[in-house]
Amino acid sequence: MGVPEIRVLGSADEVAAAAADLLVEAGRAGGHVALAGGSTPKKAYRLAAEQLEDWSAAPLWLGDERLVAPDDERYNYRMIREQGLEPERVLTEEGLQGAAGDYEARLRAALGHDPRLDLAIMGLGPDGHAASLFPGKPALQEERHLVAAVPEAGMEPQVPRLTMTFPVFNATRLVVFLVAGADKAQAMARAFGPAPDSSAPSALV
Ligand code: 6PG
Repeated sequence: MGVPEIRVLGSADEVAAAAADLLVEAGRAGGHVALAGGSTPKKAYRLAAEQLEDWSAAPLWLGDERLVAPDDERYNYRMIREQGLEPERVLTEEGLQGAAGDYEARLRAALGHDPRLDLAIMGLGPDGHAASLFPGKPALQEERHLVAAVPEAGMEPQVPRLTMTFPVFNATRLVVFLVAGADKAQAMARAFGPAPDSSAPSALV
């Protein structure tokens, strides 16, 4: 496992601007990018969409998705589209297993058998989760599949999820966790402190 580089910025706005720069760079270079859901990256997505108009060269994927109705506020695809980016949608209407299989097949069709994304934007959960890789859940053990079904989330929103797996994130050229707010301090120390706690999934990315 590589030692993570930790950059401390002055505000959440600076975090968003730095992440937007990385996204725009990947977008211009035609990179494959995995996007996190949740609230922290919203502003970065909006800034990136404002800075680059044409994303057609850069396929955007969802690092995880919640199986909710398309108009549900918790739907990551909806949140990201509202910021102006258009990721590859998970076919949530296919059910958990069907949607996972379909997303995996599309990833392999686009990137070959051992896909290597160029950039993954990730968030850190207060329990140390990353994407929908929650502590103690079976998806953590997935070594073969690129996308795993998560019938029970480890925390709110408690809805079934799909998540990209460790093999995908750990093959990605650059993984960037966006972390803001005092409520993340403890998870930050557990996952990325001097003695990473391997029960925090983020520590394993
Ligand atoms: C999801 C996420 C999840 C998120 C973290 C941090 O869809 O739930 O991808 O892993 O990144 O929970 O979320 P916040 O940025 O909202 O704190």
